[in-house]
Amino acid sequence: MLVGIFPDADALADEAARRVIRTLDAETSPTLGVATGSTPRPLYARLRAAHAAGQFSLEDVPTYALDEYVGLSPAQPQSYRHELLDQLTGPAGTGLREENLHTPHALADDPWREAQRYDALVGGAHVTIQILGIGENGHVGFNEPGGSLASRSHVSALTESTRHANARFFDDDVSAVPELSITQGLSTIALAECLILLATGTAKARAIRELVEGPVSAHWPATALQWHQDLVVLVDEDAASELEFAHDLREQWAAARHRH
Ligand code: GLP
Repeated sequence: MLVGIFPDADALADEAARRVIRTLDAETSPTLGVATGSTPRPLYARLRAAHAAGQFSLEDVPTYALDEYVGLSPAQPQSYRHELLDQLTGPAGTGLREENLHTPHALADDPWREAQRYDALVGGAHVTIQILGIGENGHVGFNEPGGSLASRSHVSALTESTRHANARFFDDDVSAVPELSITQGLSTIALAECLILLATGTAKARAIRELVEGPVSAHWPATALQWHQDLVVLVDEDAASELEFAHDLREQWAAARHRH
C-alpha cells in the first residue's frame, strides 16, 4: 500500500487524475472501474478537462461501476448510473459512450441473480484501474461492516449509518434512501490490477486510520484491501489526521515517487 497525503482536495484530485490517465495510457486495451459519491467528482472534472484538451479519452474504454441502489430507475438523479452518465458521458464528458458504461441493473426482477451476472461481467473484464471511495464506517462499494472479506458481488442491505450519510443526496430524507444495493464484492474489487482509493475530510479520518494502520477486520471492510498488491490511498490532511505513522507514510511516498 502506498499512501499520499495532500494539502487539500484539489491537489489530491490532480494526483488522482494524473495516475488514472497514466495507468490507462500504458495499456493497449484498458478498462476502468469507477466509484460514485461526492469524493471522486473533482477527479472526474479533471478527466473531462483532459478530454476537452485532447489529452485523454474514455472512448472505447469499457467502464464498470462499483455498485447501484436496488429499485432506483436510471432516470432518477440519485441512481449511480445517472450520476456516472452525468459525470463521464455527453459532449463535455470524457469520451465515454453510454453503451460502454456497465452498471448493475437496479430494476432487475431478481437482484440476487443480477448480482451474479454483474460479478461474472466484471470478473471477466480485467479492470486496469479501479477508483474507490470509502464510507465513514469503512465500507467500500456497499460492502458494509460484518460482511465477508472474500465476498463476490451480492445484494447488500445498507446500514443505518450509510443511509444517514447518503441522505444528503435524497433531500436529507433518510426514508427515501433505498435499503438494498447491488455491490461488487471485496474479492471482485480486488481483481482489478490497480486500486486507487480517495478520501477527504475529517469524517473519513477513522476509516482511513483503520484501512492504513488497523488490523484486517470485517468491522472495517476496507481493511480487506490491505491484501491487494497495488493499492494507492490518496487522502487530504483532514482524512489523514488520525494516522499514527503519517511521517513514515510521507517518507514512503517520497521514495516511491521516483518509481511512479
Ligand atoms: C457510497 C458509495 C461508496 C462511496 C461512499 C462514500 O455509499 N456506495 O462507493 O465510496 O458512499 O461517498 P462520499 O464520497 O460521498 O463520501
